Amino acid sequence: MKRRHHKEWWQRAVIYEIAPISFQDSNGDGNGDLPGLLRRLEYLEWLGIDAIWLTPIYRSPMLDLGYDISDFCAVDPLFGTLEDFDRLVETLHARDLRLILDFVPNHTSDKHTWFRGSRSSRKHPKSDWYIWEEPAANGGPPNNWQSRFGGSAWEWDEVREQYYYHSFLAQQPDLNWRNPAVREALRDVMRFWLRRGVDGFRVDASAVLIKDDLLRDNPPNPKADARTPPPQRLEPVFTDDRRETMDCIEEMRAVIDEFDDCVICGEVQGKTDRIGHFYGNDKPRLHLPLNFALLDTQWEPFPLQANIDAYYKALPEGAWPDWVIGGHDKRRVAGKIGQPQARILAMLLLTLKGTPFFFAGDEIGMEPVSIPPERVCDPFEKLVGGFGLNRDPERSPMPWDASALGGFTTGEPWLPLGDTSQRNVHQQMQDPKSLLSLYRELISLRRREPALTRGELRPVRSRNDIFSFARTFKGSEFLIGLNLVHEPREWEWQGAGTLLVSTHLDRKEQPLKGPTLLRADEGLIVELAS
Ligand code: NOJ
Repeated sequence: MKRRHHKEWWQRAVIYEIAPISFQDSNGDGNGDLPGLLRRLEYLEWLGIDAIWLTPIYRSPMLDLGYDISDFCAVDPLFGTLEDFDRLVETLHARDLRLILDFVPNHTSDKHTWFRGSRSSRKHPKSDWYIWEEPAANGGPPNNWQSRFGGSAWEWDEVREQYYYHSFLAQQPDLNWRNPAVREALRDVMRFWLRRGVDGFRVDASAVLIKDDLLRDNPPNPKADARTPPPQRLEPVFTDDRRETMDCIEEMRAVIDEFDDCVICGEVQGKTDRIGHFYGNDKPRLHLPLNFALLDTQWEPFPLQANIDAYYKALPEGAWPDWVIGGHDKRRVAGKIGQPQARILAMLLLTLKGTPFFFAGDEIGMEPVSIPPERVCDPFEKLVGGFGLNRDPERSPMPWDASALGGFTTGEPWLPLGDTSQRNVHQQMQDPKSLLSLYRELISLRRREPALTRGELRPVRSRNDIFSFARTFKGSEFLIGLNLVHEPREWEWQGAGTLLVSTHLDRKEQPLKGPTLLRADEGLIVELAS
């Protein structure tokens, strides 16, 4: 029986997403790999994060950053071997770091033996492991469902003379989650990695596992106009977030619960008001449905306070929050809000109640890297170009130092690096006032002060362009004030306390009385005198 009053590790943790292909290359082929990642663990320890989540490292034709998997239980040679993986688990654990893997249950690669079998004949034992349908009366696709990556989600197969369904690329056929054998096989995949010591999963596309069995057509999206990417011009009512998908998530959670201390996070598309369902009620579902509210909000005090409030309000009793400020599908936020405000975001992320997630490179303020057309890799951009959907700019390799290839590789990097002399890890490690130093300082403060992890959040009314709130725990209270504009602003708090850290990193551990003048783009954490 677990002691419920103690927080789980993933409630205290800071989680760091890594796309291994962009982190550190060890063999000069231009692709990051597991031995490279192993070489950088010291950095992760120095930074102070608690867990890493890796985008897929499984065997894959790599048409979609490894989200097209041809063998769920093998490491792709691009990344190394299963022995490298075991070494990674062991080394991480020896350093008290945890490992979360991406788990992609919705689809496989068309090169997976399951699909090869399924497509070979209607009589094959795996014939109904994927979603096969007869053509419509006119010979066309069975209905109007669209692939996220453009065009019909149905692909004609000459051998079976049927269509198969793919939420993403035609080379990523969707598994048939209505088939119990498929569900069992995927639960075994989870067990395979959990037995090897992983500490949990981030479940890819967890909201789309089951599609409407009546194949009802999706309605037009009333908000769509000419600027809306074509795949988003229909509302995915009958393909996304179906009731039966929740049962699948409950089953995955049950596997997680067979093991001690493991976590299940999940990508759940959709609006904040749907997020509560993904936690479950009597039957638990995800521990951490990923919350992108900080990326979706306008960066201004009123929308920010409203979006944060809406998210907390949407959480069911006992649910643990989380906050994500970057990811391999998300435009780098520093490019949107600018470097000075990226410091404010760091302070917000690391003081809000809930598990913080950020993406490798966010801690040095990486901005979208411009990718020349001939270097585009992302299938989203290749298939639905012209709508600003390219995800390559945020996937550009990590600049470790100021050299042209950033210390990432000695070969031709799989994606171009930006201007490494402008922003790199080495330079920011040397600079005690850099964004990286701020992340490190805030992570360490969060680790020291239980109020910042376990404490309750007390909202404060935003005024004067300042977003403010307090965290309280057993008689201690921390007040956070974040100036969201590039000019000084009066922060109207009353009382006295100790200024613990300023986002400018030029004052700390000094007595402070409210009200306070916050400088342009300044955020403060103040421990109130009790
Ligand atoms: C969501 C992943 O985050 C994204 O990168 C991928 O393209 C799709 N799922 C398909 O797996």
